[in-house]
Amino acid sequence: MVEIMDKVPDPSAKKDPHAEQDAKINSALGKIRHKFLVMSGKGGVGKTSTAVNLSIALANKGFKVGIMDVDLHGPDVPRMLGLNGMLEVGPNGKLTPASYSNNLKAVSVESLMPTKDEAVIWRGPIKYSAIQQFIGDVEWGELDFLVIDSPPGTGDEPLTIAQIVKDAKAIIVTTPQEVALADVRKSISFCKRVKMNVFGLIENMSGLSCPHCGEIIDLFGSGGGEKTARQFGLNFLGRIPIDPNVVQCGDSGQCYRDANADSNVTRAFDEIAGKMAELSRKI
Ligand SMILES: Nc1ncnc2c1ncn2[C@@H]1O[C@H](COP(=O)(O)OP(=O)(O)O)[C@@H](O)[C@H]1O
Ligand SMILES: [Mg+2]
Ligand SMILES: [Zn+2]
Repeated sequence: MVEIMDKVPDPSAKKDPHAEQDAKINSALGKIRHKFLVMSGKGGVGKTSTAVNLSIALANKGFKVGIMDVDLHGPDVPRMLGLNGMLEVGPNGKLTPASYSNNLKAVSVESLMPTKDEAVIWRGPIKYSAIQQFIGDVEWGELDFLVIDSPPGTGDEPLTIAQIVKDAKAIIVTTPQEVALADVRKSISFCKRVKMNVFGLIENMSGLSCPHCGEIIDLFGSGGGEKTARQFGLNFLGRIPIDPNVVQCGDSGQCYRDANADSNVTRAFDEIAGKMAELSRKI
């Protein structure tokens, strides 16, 4: 955080590099109505799964949607969409997002990585400028929704997004476990600190959807997310059950939605997308 604040402009540069970068970002993001940052206090709660499936659900409702993966440590969005080869550079030097469908476009920092499986060590300030440049370089065009997936926690990436995408709203993903809910509180206080509005809360892995009959079995308890949302005066957007096919698809690089058009999880995402659309009309 300190490192970011301490960044000094290069005095030898003729034009103000900040103003130039800001203008680029404004032009990249200016035609997007609603921007959401999907957040979680800890990893493995299903943030990326949620970002991807919500994006598909919104796109299926007829909205123009973009999904942006800025998880420099584990860019999982392309695999979960079943896409590879994420970006093309257009004639103007701008990055053209990959198309999942007519209504859904995707970009991932994966395309900045040397190779797919190579671990990259990013220092804070480098991360900031990589993300900043990445955001400014993508040619989205008109979008109703942009869904941003960042790494878990309240570190450099969500902080960077909050600073660059000033009107982003947070969607916090949690699981029913008490530890995860404690992390929600951390995410909420992070949002307060960086003055990012919280759009709502989603409880993932909320009961098990029986692979045989589709009945929802309450495994770890559920409802904690809704209670926490109420406690903090936040919108509760909905709960998503556990479905072993989510894991299986994620591992094999197949898009869950494509193989499971009719499932409890798919229906849950459709419902949440409907709620998001409705709430977005009011803001
Ligand atoms: N609703 C769900 N049912 C079953 N498995 C899930 C569900 N949501 C996420 N998972 C699995 O949990 C793991 C972590 O999910 P992921 O979306 O990568 O989380 P995060 O981005 O928060 O780290 C993955 O293996 C994913 O397939
Ligand atoms: Mg993730
Ligand atoms: Zn059953």
